[in-house]
Amino acid sequence: MTEVAGKVAVVTGGASGIGRGIAEALIERGATVVIADIEQGALDATAAEIGATPCRTDVSQAASVEALRDFVLERFDRVDIVCLNAGVGPSGYIRDLTLADWEWILGVNLWGVIHGVTAFLPALEANPDGGHIEMTGSNAGFIAQPTIGSYSVTKYGVLGLAEALAIELADAGSKVRVTYLAPGMVRTNIGSSARNRPAGLEGALHDADISKVINQDVRWIDPITAGRIVTRAIEHDDLYAPTHPELVGPIRERHARIEAAHEKYPIMEDR
Ligand SMILES: NC(=O)c1ccc[n+]([C@@H]2O[C@H](COP(=O)([O-])OP(=O)(O)OC[C@H]3O[C@@H](n4cnc5c(N)ncnc54)[C@H](O)[C@@H]3O)[C@@H](O)[C@H]2O)c1
Repeated sequence: MTEVAGKVAVVTGGASGIGRGIAEALIERGATVVIADIEQGALDATAAEIGATPCRTDVSQAASVEALRDFVLERFDRVDIVCLNAGVGPSGYIRDLTLADWEWILGVNLWGVIHGVTAFLPALEANPDGGHIEMTGSNAGFIAQPTIGSYSVTKYGVLGLAEALAIELADAGSKVRVTYLAPGMVRTNIGSSARNRPAGLEGALHDADISKVINQDVRWIDPITAGRIVTRAIEHDDLYAPTHPELVGPIRERHARIEAAHEKYPIMEDR
């Protein structure tokens, strides 16, 4: 169990929604928090409101995330908890997507997390107390659904990254732990993700009401609740942190389909 009180934490996408909720929950548990975000106005306002330190960052750019790490280490001389949460959630059928669409969504949701791991893991491993990396995935990282296929691609990618990193760290006897947060429906600004879309990466992905995209009757929760689930997962060293346990049904069905495929295919001899 990892103690949060007294620790230095960084939260990407911390100006809004789940990132803000994570930052508030960490502060509530006694951590010092740096929030990083591309949206300067919201970043400064949120930092002032919740008592965090702001650092403007574009997670899709490796140099920007490295500058964030340098800022945190220079300012606080340590880093213990890194929450790689920044993300966008636009919709669009795969057949309509342009390469610019893929570049945008992969750049923020998957490369953003890769940049975070690459920049911060050495500092966490050098920390004698160990540390924790939280990655905000999604329930859409467990099951694929129409119109959010590119989003699922990014979140399945983050899931593979989290699972493989957790195994490698455990095998190496590292004191760094990993959590994959899998939110269901959270009341945030994800429905207006295009507000942060870079010029030059326009395409077919568009903002959509996710309550209409996700074809299920689900419970909406507040960002602070998702944040408290993250602090709990950190304290319990949990790899998977689902916000909506009631959404396990379709995950079981998917696993059953994969298992059935393994039973259907016999072992083919090499001759
Ligand atoms: N809201 C939900 O129901 C839900 C469900 C599952 C997963 N998620 C995930 O939660 C995470 C947070 O999203 P949210 O719902 O809080 O949305 P949000 O729009 O409220 O917050 C996302 C934050 O990320 C920031 N951001 C966007 N591009 C960035 C970039 N290039 N660099 C740095 N910051 C950037 C935005 O400015 C914003 O502050 C995302 O990874 C999202 O995929 C959300």
